[in-house]
Order: sequence, then C-alpha cells, then structure tokens
Amino acid sequence: MPAALHRPEPVLRHRAEPVDRNVPKAQAAAWLCAGRSLLVTDRFATGLDMLTELRVLLEDPGEDAGYVKKRTFREAFQAASKRLLAPVVGRKVALPDAPRAGFLAELYPDHADFALPVEDAKVLSSAWDWYEQGVYFPVLGYRVHPFYGTYIPARMEHLELFGTWLAKYQGRRERAIDVGTGSGVLALQMAKAGFARVLATDINPNAIESVARQLRRLPKAPPIELEHADLLGTDRGPLDLIVSNPPWMKGDVGRTLDLAMYFQDGFFERFYDQALQRLAPGGRVVFVFSNIIELSQPDVPHPIQTELDRGRFRLVEKLTRRVKPLRRRTREKVEVWELAVV
Ligand SMILES: C[S@@+](CC[C@H](N)C(=O)[O-])C[C@H]1O[C@@H](n2cnc3c(N)ncnc32)[C@H](O)[C@@H]1O
Repeated sequence: MPAALHRPEPVLRHRAEPVDRNVPKAQAAAWLCAGRSLLVTDRFATGLDMLTELRVLLEDPGEDAGYVKKRTFREAFQAASKRLLAPVVGRKVALPDAPRAGFLAELYPDHADFALPVEDAKVLSSAWDWYEQGVYFPVLGYRVHPFYGTYIPARMEHLELFGTWLAKYQGRRERAIDVGTGSGVLALQMAKAGFARVLATDINPNAIESVARQLRRLPKAPPIELEHADLLGTDRGPLDLIVSNPPWMKGDVGRTLDLAMYFQDGFFERFYDQALQRLAPGGRVVFVFSNIIELSQPDVPHPIQTELDRGRFRLVEKLTRRVKPLRRRTREKVEVWELAVV
C-alpha cells in the first residue's frame, strides 16, 4: 500500500473517559460539544446513538439546506464527533456489534491497536460495503468497486449524457485524458469506446488506487495509464480529447472528498492553460457539468462560460438533460460541453 493514501488519522494516545449505554445520550453529546473526549466501551450502537444525539444538539439542517448552513453544521459536527472514540484492537473495532471494516487491515499496516473516532469507523465500514459489493454502472455494463475515500457518483444521468456524446464523436481516438478520474468511470467509458490510450489523473491518491484495483479486476485490462497528479499531470504527447467531470461548485475544501465537489480560485484557469498547451490540432475539451452552480451559486462566475467569453475556445456543442430528483423536485440539469480551440 503506498504510504500516501488518505485514511482516518489513528488516535494513538488519548485520555478519553469511558462511556457506555448507561450514560444518557444527550449528556454524552453535550460533553462532546464541551470538548471532552469519550471512549465507547460496550457496543458500537452506543456510539452511533450518541452521534445521533449530537446531530440533534447541533441542529442538523438536513441535506436540502443551503451550502453555508450545511457547511457550518458539518464543521461543528466534525469537531465534536472526533472526540467520540472506539477502540481498535488487532485492526478490528473492538466492540461486539461493530460492522466489518476490511479497510482497517489495509490502511493501517503500521499500527494494530489504536482508537478511531466512531464516525470514521462508520465511514470505513460503509466504504468497505461499497467496495465489496461494487456499484453497477449501466454505461459500462459492470460493477465498479470504489476504494475508500474515492468519489462515486450519486446519479447516472451525466454519465449517460457523456455516453451519448461519445457515441457521436467522429474525431481521432489515439490519446485521451480523464482529468480527475475518481472511480475511473469516464476513462473506462473512453477505453470502451476504442481509444488507443487513455490517461487518467487524480489529485486524490485513493482514487488512483481505486482505479488501479479496478483495472486488475477486469478480465482484459483496458489501455488506461494512471497518474496521481494535479490536473493534466505529465505531458505524454498531444491529446485528442481532454475530458473532465470537474467539481461543480465553488467552495472550501476540508476533507479529501470535498475536492470532488468544490473547486477553488484558479482551478479552471490552470485547467484551460494546460489544455491549450496539450490539445492536439482539432482536439476537444469536454466537460461533464451541471447547472447546479447557476441554481445555487448565481454570484459565482460560470467557469466554462467565462472562458468561452474570453475567446480562446469556442463552443462546438452543448448537450443537456434533466435529472431525476434524488430527494425533492429539482430544476437541476446535467450538461456536456464540447469546446474547441479558436
Ligand atoms: C466530480 S469528481 C468526478 C470523478 C469521476 N470523473 C466521475 O465522473 O465520477 C471530481 C474528481 O476530480 C478530482 N480532482 C479535484 N481537483 C483535482 C485536481 N486539481 N487535479 C486532479 N484531480 C482533481 C477529485 O479528487 C475527484 O475525483
């Protein structure tokens, strides 16, 4: 395992006070907010109940709340929940009802006994379930098994729209790149569509690990070359297609997975500068995007339209498609933007 993989920080020394189901949950939540560290000693469910109570105490605004409210809650929850620990012995959560988290064995070769925040143990265990079961991608016709800490899409419409665009693509299929490959789905789509070489980069090392493992699972490894790198990575020759499903909104990045959701100042500017240097004559830049930025961040300059207005690229085609709401009715649409150099 490359040492650089992201993992929840193991707590090697602590002075947490033991707690069990006899401690009232609301009391435990209040202690966590007040800065006290607690170690769950009886059952994993006790820890989960205390986290539920903490959410109530911190007034979880729910998924449909605005960015700022959600962010404020999340920061407060993360800070307090980090203080609720579960014991790990022999790389297993040492509570009788703890769910299996195989990643413990993989991610902590350097420590066997330590403590982990209950919340992190929970995330590791559900990540393990996703990894073992895999996520079926109709655009690929098989399951992808995302490694811990790798972005996995919540919906499929944007991938189908990219598939529609790809099916009509008439250009060269020598060399393409998937910038910010995540679980690798766009790179795998391009390999399936007959590209001779597909490069795939991601700034998150866990994503690169995820795709490397996925390639080993496939009966015939597609011609995908991986690089843990910022944006387009190393220059390996002119690119016929530069494809990216970039973060769709502007925002702060705290956890690794935030890099999948939020871009920061300079992200797109650097992307376009690199694309201009690396695109083969007649090549295309293709963004898989969404109108969510117009709906929820109308004051943020549109990162694709702004570049088009600058005049270095022209819009060849834009496909849009409505999405099925994940929770409530939505005006959200997914988009594929095809750009060519002027
Ligand atoms: C919205 S996700 C898309 C993942 C995948 N391509 C897909 O369609 O499901 C964006 C990805 O870009 C990666 N990313 C963010 N900033 C990056 C950067 N500066 N360079 C390379 N990858 C980056 C994130 O780690 C994440 O995996």
